[in-house]
Amino acid sequence: MEFSTKLSSPEKHASACVVVGIYEGSVLSAAAETLQQATGGEFGELLRLAGMRGKAGTTRLLYRLPGVAAKRILLVGLGNPKDFGPKSWHDCVITIVKALVDIGVPDAGIYITNLKVGTRDTTWKARQFAVAAIDTLYRFERMKSKKEEARTLSRLILGTTSREELKAAEIGIKEGFAIGAGMTLAKDLGNLPGNVCTPSYLAEQSLGLAREWGFDARVLDLKDMVKLGMGSLLSVAKGSRQPPKFIVLKYFGAPRKEKPVVLVGKGITFDTGGISLKPGAEMDEMKFDMCGAASVIGTFRAIAQMRLKLNVIGLVPAAENMPDGAASKPGDIVTSMSGQTIEILNTDAEGRLILCDALTYAEQFKPQAVVDIATLTGACIIALGHVCSGLFSNKDTLAGELLAAGEESWDRAWQLPIWDDYQEQLKSNFADVANIGGRAAGSVTAACFLSRFTKNYDWAHLDIAGTAWRSGKDKGASGRPIPLLTSFLMKRAEKQ
Ligand code: BES
Ligand code: MN
Ligand code: ZN
Repeated sequence: MEFSTKLSSPEKHASACVVVGIYEGSVLSAAAETLQQATGGEFGELLRLAGMRGKAGTTRLLYRLPGVAAKRILLVGLGNPKDFGPKSWHDCVITIVKALVDIGVPDAGIYITNLKVGTRDTTWKARQFAVAAIDTLYRFERMKSKKEEARTLSRLILGTTSREELKAAEIGIKEGFAIGAGMTLAKDLGNLPGNVCTPSYLAEQSLGLAREWGFDARVLDLKDMVKLGMGSLLSVAKGSRQPPKFIVLKYFGAPRKEKPVVLVGKGITFDTGGISLKPGAEMDEMKFDMCGAASVIGTFRAIAQMRLKLNVIGLVPAAENMPDGAASKPGDIVTSMSGQTIEILNTDAEGRLILCDALTYAEQFKPQAVVDIATLTGACIIALGHVCSGLFSNKDTLAGELLAAGEESWDRAWQLPIWDDYQEQLKSNFADVANIGGRAAGSVTAACFLSRFTKNYDWAHLDIAGTAWRSGKDKGASGRPIPLLTSFLMKRAEKQ
């Protein structure tokens, strides 16, 4: 799909279809009003005949209207202008893109940047337009022998009516295109099955991406990890025929002396639970247990394309969690890279076991901040559902930045506590710490476990168990929280 911007006016824009919005009660948006003027009132007459009352989510198609250069006019219902916020903006873009695909036009000129979305500016509208459009158009067909019919829609043009608006929209479209491409990559990696997307596959893809986009990538293998003393990570990989990989990505967008932001992504390419085996129902979804890793890799693609002026390190501990004669057993005690010993009371709490060593490894970069992203706990879905990611942090200003980035990109997070009171639950009779803390506050105790390995820097943890993929009929990776992460990094780059 091609995205572009154009300085024009809806009635003059010669294309297969021009798109304008109608508010509830058939109230015309500014672009619709222009069509009304240009057609001597005919537009409003057809609007009534078509029964377009402006209810959010509705569409109508008009065609061959004298005075309008485009062959068709797609009307999109916007609902009440008072309620038209970021969610409505995304919903409206999704509705438009789905309708355009359904109609089968090759291109369209979309005149919606004049719609008021709270205090959001044109760059924001254009960025989110591109992200939502790419997200909506995504299909995963790589593993199907028969592909779906090719789509006719190949070009979306965001229409603007002033020079300043055009400039702002151009910036937003570029950013949105980069973010969308990062999300597409992350979704592909997430959707690939566990027998294809192994730790080695993630490593190869990362090396390929780094070559393509001109950043550094290195892959540590089993021997390197043994040397580093990553006993906790290795205890998870032990039960699998797939060797673990530790992927290190380095993007230098700022002078090398500037401290980097470190992103750490959980890369369990399949989570059976190990000897603490998971029940069979929906276990296939545990192929998505590397979505944290995918979000790191996808974010690198996005920031490399944007040429973000910031140094960013990406760390991906990748392993498969399997039951086997060599697998870790409940009660086993391992020594992490930090020196802390861990009693593995449940082999299904493996995410924290690979993350803790990656978090210790992160120290060497003297980071300005470390953010880990992980499909860490089913309990996070119980607490927050599928709307927002869980956020935990040892630094309030960092938490605030991430919450704001989530609001800005409409990929929201909600903060939960990691008070010391919860550390009680992680006490072990035999080792320094246990890897589970009982049923109560499962997401919090998981984060508290991680916090023991992050004392030397500002750190935040995003539990994306509820947001990284959708189940049911629309099963598939979501590309979240790449919008949040890129927004956070863009703000950090601006400040620097
Ligand atoms: N990958 C899972 C968490 C998960 C489960 C995410 C379901 C999304 C949907 C993680 O490794 C896990 O198994 N966590 C356990 C922890 C428990 C043993 C303390 C869980 O959530 O049940
Ligand atoms: Mn698990
Ligand atoms: Zn897991």
